[in-house]
Amino acid sequence: MKLLALKETHPAESRVALTPELVLKYQNFGFEVFIEEKAGVKSSISDAEFVKAGAQIIPDISTILAEVDVIISVQRTDVDFAKTKADLVFITKEKFVQKNVSTFALDLIPRITRAQGMDVLSSQSNLAGYRAVIDAAYEMPKILPMMMTAAGTISAAKFMILGAGVAGLQAVATAKRLGAVVCVFDVRAAAKEQVQSLGAKFIEVKSDEKNDGVYAKETSEEYKKLQEELLKEAIKNQDVVITTALIPGKKAPILISEEMVKSMKPGSIIVDLAAVNGGNCALTQVGKIVEIGGIKIIGHENFPSRVAFDASKVFAKNIFNFVDLLTDKEKKIISINREDEIIKSTLSC
Ligand SMILES: NC(=O)c1ccc[n+]([C@@H]2O[C@H](COP(=O)([O-])OP(=O)(O)OC[C@H]3O[C@@H](n4cnc5c(N)ncnc54)[C@H](O)[C@@H]3O)[C@@H](O)[C@H]2O)c1
Repeated sequence: MKLLALKETHPAESRVALTPELVLKYQNFGFEVFIEEKAGVKSSISDAEFVKAGAQIIPDISTILAEVDVIISVQRTDVDFAKTKADLVFITKEKFVQKNVSTFALDLIPRITRAQGMDVLSSQSNLAGYRAVIDAAYEMPKILPMMMTAAGTISAAKFMILGAGVAGLQAVATAKRLGAVVCVFDVRAAAKEQVQSLGAKFIEVKSDEKNDGVYAKETSEEYKKLQEELLKEAIKNQDVVITTALIPGKKAPILISEEMVKSMKPGSIIVDLAAVNGGNCALTQVGKIVEIGGIKIIGHENFPSRVAFDASKVFAKNIFNFVDLLTDKEKKIISINREDEIIKSTLSC
């Protein structure tokens, strides 16, 4: 079997779907491993490291497409399918449809225990949550920890995190480690305990409305009003607000209005991790840092890609674990068990 890892082409994508430490593991499954030239460069992995690990570098992938059984990428899907095998398997992040190709979308991995090692949403959100704090720290004119010096006391920065899923909880942990005072809001009742266990304060809407599933569901208009009142008050005192709120299958909810942005102190920062999903702040612009009245709103398109080395490491491992599920190691063939829950959920074409 032959496996090819592509070089990403999207300008905001620095990750790569293969790392050198996985080459031998793929070989042990029965794969010959190929990687497009310079695919790892933006993740600080050179072609020489891939060669040393046993992979073959391909300068022009059209020369090899006809022989390849499995193609892996982070988000790239544009290869010349007229040249590929009829039973090609293509594994990438997002759903896409292509004639004569089995395409698997890792964003659709079910949130079950057995699939945790393949869950790219979790592995990447975790790093996005970390990077959001670092991006805020870099842009803000203040420091995070309290410092008592002979020249006076500097108070700790105040962070508010909206949404306490995988990204939000890592943002809480990172901001706490750097010495910030952190408060968190989430619509899910279960988030309270997790937030408190990290030493942050949980702020909540006083309402009988229940949002007690694993995932958030959309709240009522009445709840939204109460939430707005709560956040309007809380936001005025924050140095940084990191928003991570998502509702599966829906546009991200707007939690921060223009009026709320304008009520913040100059020098304050909003980091909108939901920017690509529509944004949690009304003034976010995807791929930009906008400044309004001294308040910066960071709307980077791809936060995990901003820590590409480690993001690639865990992303590539997620893909490897998924390929594990697709291969018959004895016969050294691809074997797709359509009854498997993980396969069923991710096989998009
Ligand atoms: N394998 C697994 O079992 C597994 C893997 C990953 C996550 N999870 C769980 O799935 C859940 C969702 O995690 P996620 O990171 O995918 O979440 P997500 O990215 O879908 O959403 C981020 C957070 O935003 C919150 N949110 C939605 N609307 C909001 C609003 N209006 N105001 C404030 N917050 C709002 C959600 O409740 C969630 O906590 C968590 O409970 C997590 O522990 C389980």
